[in-house]
Amino acid sequence: MIETITALEALRQRVRRWKRDGLRVGFVPTMGNLHAGHYSLVELARQHADRVVSSVFVNPTQFGPNEDFTRYPRTPEQDTSGLQAAGCDVLWLPDVAAMYPFGVELAARVQVPGVSAVLEGAHRPGHFDGVCTVVTRLFNQVQPDVAVFGRKDYQQLAVIRQLVADLQFPIEIVGGEIVREPNGLAMSSRNQYLSSEQRELAAILHRTLLSMRDAVQAGEPRAQAEATAGAALRAAGFEPDYAVIRSPDLGEPDDGSGGPRVALVAARLGRTRLIDNIEFLLG
Ligand code: PAF
Repeated sequence: MIETITALEALRQRVRRWKRDGLRVGFVPTMGNLHAGHYSLVELARQHADRVVSSVFVNPTQFGPNEDFTRYPRTPEQDTSGLQAAGCDVLWLPDVAAMYPFGVELAARVQVPGVSAVLEGAHRPGHFDGVCTVVTRLFNQVQPDVAVFGRKDYQQLAVIRQLVADLQFPIEIVGGEIVREPNGLAMSSRNQYLSSEQRELAAILHRTLLSMRDAVQAGEPRAQAEATAGAALRAAGFEPDYAVIRSPDLGEPDDGSGGPRVALVAARLGRTRLIDNIEFLLG
């Protein structure tokens, strides 16, 4: 039976007891409104650990002033039963006061320069500062041995890896595969904002990524593949923030050479902003 914990001392006691018994603790941080993508991360955490903690906390510091913090879907009962079915042992459910004891304004912040600055960081200023701030707090609260993050948020995973390396957290970071709808749309809590027509239309994001990959693998210059992708998205009624091909570290790849690549897209459909990516090999 899953145990829901809302007080930090109770969480610490539970984790201390597990560790005293020699158990490895896995952690899956979330903002709730869980779907099959999240549950696959919990299942992956189970493969890497003896016990799994998952957190649900809609983190105010990672939303910009005009973003969807207040309307972000909150579904605690559904999340609890889904987590239990996925094999989660403890649901860590802090409120804002438990997460930010001195209040959000006075909260100590954590910033990872470099990889945070581009793409999502450029379009959502302060977003990764909020993510790094809350993930640092969550790591300190849960003290996991291994933490699992989804690859759909490709840049977030890269930022977290940098955070963990730089602050020397003794935590193994594992990336979980993207789970897609049958039409290719990456699962996301924000898909809830889409009408059924928009959900069908949004499948173009994945198709666009595949076309970018196919184009550069067939020898088309990267800039041309990116421009074609942007135009296709605009023609379908999206407002793209970016549609790019990058190196795994999100730097601009050397076009003369092959190697691992990631195609990333962020685009708005109506009021809903969606992101997606695919990883592939060039050459
Ligand atoms: O990926 C998310 O859901 C959030 O960014 C995270 C990692 C739970 C931090 O709030």
